[in-house]
Amino acid sequence: MLYSEKVMDHFMNPRNVGEIEDADGIGEVGNAKCGDIMKIYLKIDQNIITDVKFKTFGCGSAIASSSMATELIKGKSVDEALALTNKAVTEALDGLPTHKIHCSVLAEEAIKSALDDFYQRYPDGK
Ligand code: FES
Repeated sequence: MLYSEKVMDHFMNPRNVGEIEDADGIGEVGNAKCGDIMKIYLKIDQNIITDVKFKTFGCGSAIASSSMATELIKGKSVDEALALTNKAVTEALDGLPTHKIHCSVLAEEAIKSALDDFYQRYPDGK
């Protein structure tokens, strides 16, 4: 089987889909080669990610990666979210095929981009 059960589960039943109206940080990244786009919304209170939502226009692995990545940072500190790597996302999904690794990179980049946005809005944190 090309995809793990976890990938299939997060693709078929993605967690945290949607957007946050009054988000504290929003990040959007894309991959020029495949054209997939990922958007992440963060709600942050006292340095903790209290809520996170995503919208991904992309392949199944990108959807599964964003779903897993949001689960991994929910309730965590901003620093922990900044440290999330695509490798951790891939491992949590029990692996991705080699040519789909870039989909998990998109998730790491989207979270970093949303945290960047957060720090621009709140340089001293919130
Ligand atoms: Fe590009 Fe999955 S094929 S994000």
